[in-house]
Amino acid sequence: MVNSNKHDSLPVPGPAALAHSQTLEALIAAAIVAGDGWLPFDRYMELALYAPGLGYYSGGSTKFGWRADDGSDFITAPELSPLFAQTLGQAVAQALQASGTRAVMEFGAGTGKLAAGILATLDALGVQCERYTIVELSGELRERQQATLAAACADNPGRLAKVDWLDTLPDHFDGVMLGNEVLDAMPVKLYQRRAGVWHERGVTLAGLDAGPGAAGVDLERNLAPPDPALSSQPRLGWADRVIAAPAPALAELLAEIEGDHDYLTETCDAAAAFTGTVLQLLGRGVLLLIDYGFPRHEYLHPQRSGGTLMCHYRHRAHDDPFLYPGLQDITAHVDFTAIAQAGLDAGADLLGYTSQARFLINSGITDLLGQLDPRDTQRFLPAANAVQKLLAESEMGELFKVIGFSRGVDGRLASFERGDRSHAL
Ligand SMILES: C[S@@+](CC[C@H](N)C(=O)[O-])C[C@H]1O[C@@H](n2cnc3c(N)ncnc32)[C@H](O)[C@@H]1O
Repeated sequence: MVNSNKHDSLPVPGPAALAHSQTLEALIAAAIVAGDGWLPFDRYMELALYAPGLGYYSGGSTKFGWRADDGSDFITAPELSPLFAQTLGQAVAQALQASGTRAVMEFGAGTGKLAAGILATLDALGVQCERYTIVELSGELRERQQATLAAACADNPGRLAKVDWLDTLPDHFDGVMLGNEVLDAMPVKLYQRRAGVWHERGVTLAGLDAGPGAAGVDLERNLAPPDPALSSQPRLGWADRVIAAPAPALAELLAEIEGDHDYLTETCDAAAAFTGTVLQLLGRGVLLLIDYGFPRHEYLHPQRSGGTLMCHYRHRAHDDPFLYPGLQDITAHVDFTAIAQAGLDAGADLLGYTSQARFLINSGITDLLGQLDPRDTQRFLPAANAVQKLLAESEMGELFKVIGFSRGVDGRLASFERGDRSHAL
């Protein structure tokens, strides 16, 4: 079905951004042709987000910010308020002390604000951190992080000297590892049950045969581009392939979904593999991962029949991953049961699993807010508003979760002491 009005309310990018998107779309089109007319969705998402120099995270999009008119698409917790980094800094301090380690590693560090806040908090608490390593896939984000940290450490060059950057994982690490909203940015596979038959959703081009087993190709779903400059572009669309013989793990997972109604869901092998890999290289220490998602039984709830894939463009959420490839974020919620299983399979201990609200309260966010003077309205009001957003059930407090793993650490962390929901995984 064609719905040419669907994107009318979204802002149209300028000519340079459209040209950038066209170049990426041509690269994706070539990958589809090379794949006999069909690309699994996880490969599409990987190219759309991470194709060197062109993908959303590897190109020059603004990404993080407050408003569409600053060119940004979404806001994350470290951008909302310095209290998030300060609170996380307190949790990291506990974890460094509990593990007897002196190094921090952050994955996918965004603008660098979280790193700057954690380092300042550790210094203020007198907790030793000899090295803060950022693992960053994007050269452009690395430059932004360097600028943020240089500005934040202008009066403390010693603090800045502790920070280094890697673009691949090291072989071994002792210390505290953390990632905020990293798992949700990893490529997912899409599975669709239609008329009781499971298909893998992939991507094809108008006019191409999507290969053997293709069914229900719905090329019209990719809409007329809002800018005539794009009319010569290859047109991306969905193509679903019947899964003839699902691997046992996939068959087991799909069998968990009750009913026989039409249903769309995702799996993220990349997020589970990432968790397993980083925990295997952790000799002694803690891993904290913060993201939006649910345990498996909620993730695969019969009523969640549309899946969780979501796109963000100029602070509007929508469900079309083919709009402006390279200019918009594509994301899916995290299956925390899969993440917990990956950690246990890697031989780590599960420290805890709780809501972001509970984790931040346990780690002292309300005490930090209480230290601000309410009469200083310029500082207090934005901080109180941000804390409300971070903690409220209807905002980020409940949808976002924190999962923690450890290796070689005795005892628990206060950050998971109250409200632990590990039993729900
Ligand atoms: C939604 S952004 C979050 C950025 C930042 N942590 C924040 O909260 O503002 C997702 C980040 O995860 C990074 N990322 C994705 N896969 C990664 C991986 N395997 N290793 C490290 N970073 C990764 C992306 O490059 C991107 O910078």
